Amino acid sequence: GNGARVPVLVIGTGYGGSVAALRLAQAGIDVHMVEMGQDWSTVPPGPDGKIHPKVSSPDYRSFWMRTRTKQPLSNFLGFPIDKAVPKYAGILDAEDFAGISVYQGRGVGGGSLVNGGMAVTPKRQNFADILPSVSAEEMYGTYYPRANSALGVSTIDPAWFERTSYYQYSRVGRKHAERSGFDWTFVPAVYDWDYMKAEDNGSVPKSALGQEILYGNNHGKKTLPKTYLAQATATGRVTISALHRATSVRPTAAGGYDVVLEQINTAGDVVATKTVNAGKIFFAAGSVGTSKLLVKMKSTGALPALNGEVGQGWGDNGNIMVGRANHMWDATGDVQSTIPCSGIDNWDAGGAFAEVAPLPAGLETFASFYLAITKSPRRAAFTYNSASGNVDLSWQTSWKQDSITMAKTIFDKINRKEGTIYRTDLFGTNKIWGDHLTYHPLGGAILNKATDNYGRLHGYDGLYVIDGALIPGNTSVNPFVTITALAERNIERIIAADL
Ligand code: FDA
Repeated sequence: GNGARVPVLVIGTGYGGSVAALRLAQAGIDVHMVEMGQDWSTVPPGPDGKIHPKVSSPDYRSFWMRTRTKQPLSNFLGFPIDKAVPKYAGILDAEDFAGISVYQGRGVGGGSLVNGGMAVTPKRQNFADILPSVSAEEMYGTYYPRANSALGVSTIDPAWFERTSYYQYSRVGRKHAERSGFDWTFVPAVYDWDYMKAEDNGSVPKSALGQEILYGNNHGKKTLPKTYLAQATATGRVTISALHRATSVRPTAAGGYDVVLEQINTAGDVVATKTVNAGKIFFAAGSVGTSKLLVKMKSTGALPALNGEVGQGWGDNGNIMVGRANHMWDATGDVQSTIPCSGIDNWDAGGAFAEVAPLPAGLETFASFYLAITKSPRRAAFTYNSASGNVDLSWQTSWKQDSITMAKTIFDKINRKEGTIYRTDLFGTNKIWGDHLTYHPLGGAILNKATDNYGRLHGYDGLYVIDGALIPGNTSVNPFVTITALAERNIERIIAADL
C-alpha cells in the first residue's frame, strides 16, 4: 500500500527478477516484487474455456494495450491477418520504436510466459565476446549449471523425435541443413517432454501440440511461475503486486529510495498512485523496461549521478526471420509442435545460428521457417525525449541488412542445393525477411560500464540491474539461460558483500 517500507523492491518478474527474489529470500531477506502485467494464474478463462488462446486465434488476451493485433508473421498466403481487439493487459507486448518492434512478455513471469522455451547455453569459446569482464570458468563451472538446473532444462528424446509427426518440420530442416554441409544440433528447452509425449498420444490436453506458445501455454512449459517464482513464494518471504508499474525512483534524505507505482486496471487506466520506500532496488524490468526507467530518471534529475553509459549498448541479438518454399515432396506437416528443438549452426563461418521454427498453421504450408540469431555489430542507444516524455531508441531498420547478409550464408546455400526459393508472403507482399522486430532485446545498462562488474549501478548505493539490460547486445544463442546464469552469479556476490 501507499507509504509502505520494504527492505528490497524488485521491479519486474522475468528471469533476472525471479533469480534475485529467490536467492534473497533464501538468504532471509523479505522481498517485494512489482509487475506491470497480470498474474495470469488469477485471470478468468476466455471464451474458449482456457487462460491462453492459440497462436492461430489471437484475441483480447494476446496483446498488451493494443487495439489491433500485431502478429510477428503479419501475412499468410499473401493476406494480412491482423485484426481489431479491445485494449487489454494482454500477455505479449509488441513495443514500437521508430526502427524496430520489440516483443516482450507481460505478466508475472515476464518473457517466460510467451517465449519459445529454447534454453541454450552459448559455446564456451564464444563467451569472451558475450561478457568480456566475466570469468568463463566460473560461469561454465557454477552458474550455467545452476541456472539450467533451476530452469528445468532438458533435450528431446531423440527416438521420439524421429517418429512423431509433430517434428516432421524439424526433420525436413535437418535434411536440408545437412545436405548443404551445415552442422545441425538439437536445442534444449524448458518444456516437459514427457507431457509433450502424452499430448501426442492423446492422454492429456494439448498445449505445444495444440498451437499454444506466443500468447501463453496452458500446460507443459516450465515457465518462471512454475520454477524460480514458485520456489521464491514458497519461502514465505516474497510478495508480488501485479498490475503495478514503477514510474519513478529517487533517493530520500532518510536513506533508501522512494518509488512511485501506478496501479492499473486491465484496460490500462491508472486506478491508484502509490509511493513506497525501499532500502534496495533491483531493476529487472527487462532490457527495454530497465533502460527506459534509468534513462528517464537520469535525464529528469531523479537519479542525476547515473553515468553516461546508461541507455547505451542496446542490440537485437541479431534476430532475423525467414521462410523457404519447399518442393511438394518435402511437406513440413499439418501438425507442428510449437517448441523448436533444433538449430543450424553456422556461427563461426557465417555469423548465424538459425532455429528451425514451426509454422503451426493447422494445414500443410510447404514452408520451412527459421528464426536466426546473427552476429550483428549494430548497437543503439535510448534517449529521453523531453517533448514527448517518452524514451526513444536510435535503432534503424536498415541495420538489419547485416543480419540478412549473415543469415544468407545459410539459406542461399540451402536454396541453391535444394533448388528452392524464399517465401515472399509471410511478412507483407513480396517481402522475404522479417526485419522489423526482435524477440531478444539486450543491453542498455551494460555490465562493467553502467554498473560495476556485478550489476551495482554507478552513482548510487543499493541500486542494482539484474536483467537482460546488463548484456551487451548479443549472446550468440537465445538469451534467457545467459540472463539467468549471470543473475545467479551477481546475486551471490551481492548477498555476500552488500546485505
Ligand atoms: P523480462 O522481459 O523477462 O521481464 C521483465 C518484466 O518486467 C516483464 O514481466 C515486464 O512486464 C516487467 N516490467 C517492465 N517494466 C516494468 C515497470 N516499469 N514496472 C513494473 N514491471 C515492469 N529467449 C530464449 O532464451 N529462448 C527462447 O526460445 C525465446 N523465445 C522468445 C520468444 C518471444 C516471442 C519473446 C518475446 C522472447 C523470447 N525469448 C527467448 C527472449 C526471452 O524471453 C527474454 O530474453 C527474457 O525474458 C528477458 O528476461 P529479463 O529478465 O531481462 O526480462
